[in-house]
Amino acid sequence: MKKELNKHIQNLKTKGITFLDNVFSKKDCNKYIQRFEKLCHNFEKKNKKLGDYGQTIQNYFSYDKKLLKFLFIKEVDEILKKLIDDNYVLINSSLTNRFNRKKNFKKVSSHFDNLGGKWHHDSRIIGGKRLDKGFSYTVVIMFDKFTKENGCTEYVEKSHLIRDKFPKKNKSYKNSKLILGGQGTVAIFDTGLWHRAGSPSSKFSRWSIFAYYGPWFMKPYYDFPNMFKKNSKLSKNLKKLLHFNSIPPKNELERTYTLTKI
Ligand SMILES: [Fe+2]
Repeated sequence: MKKELNKHIQNLKTKGITFLDNVFSKKDCNKYIQRFEKLCHNFEKKNKKLGDYGQTIQNYFSYDKKLLKFLFIKEVDEILKKLIDDNYVLINSSLTNRFNRKKNFKKVSSHFDNLGGKWHHDSRIIGGKRLDKGFSYTVVIMFDKFTKENGCTEYVEKSHLIRDKFPKKNKSYKNSKLILGGQGTVAIFDTGLWHRAGSPSSKFSRWSIFAYYGPWFMKPYYDFPNMFKKNSKLSKNLKKLLHFNSIPPKNELERTYTLTKI
């Protein structure tokens, strides 16, 4: 097990990406795809239309609590703890079906029409320089198999090492590679890695969860503790991931440190 762990850490440091096979069974993946379809259907009925080139819902776990389980995966947790530290947190997570459904809804009104479709990285920039590698990571759970035909994510290996140049949105990078995997595969990549979502298929779905993790002092995209205020059933691990123990105190009389024990 330790050998496996070291292999993943080494892959992430040198290539910027690593793959964990068979984390979830095919049967489970198919079961959850049905749940995702239902969630998207209800979301569109109640809230907003989803995109034509990708149907993406962030904070999917707040609409269906059963999906919280995908934020904490034991094998992934071991890797992230080692790479970041024990207090690492969730920054954002999206449920995405990269699929061209050709419905042609008005783009302005759809929710994340083509999220991640152009070359980008998901790191942060200070003084014109990208943060160093190893600051934060994206975890991809493949519920459908990821193939070239269904718009799998593309990436440029070792690009997490480049800090003073940025990917060109529409360029075709000759040395780019594909994030491929069977149903239930999990990939982890350094957020500095240049990547983009592949062209969506109109035949094959590509259900996946993308979750972005970082150190406890990084701001989440959404106010998770408020989202779950009344929910006391969250496990300690989930509470930690959702920032429950890293909210600053009201003032110095309440306490003089940010991190607390759960
Ligand atoms: Fe991205």
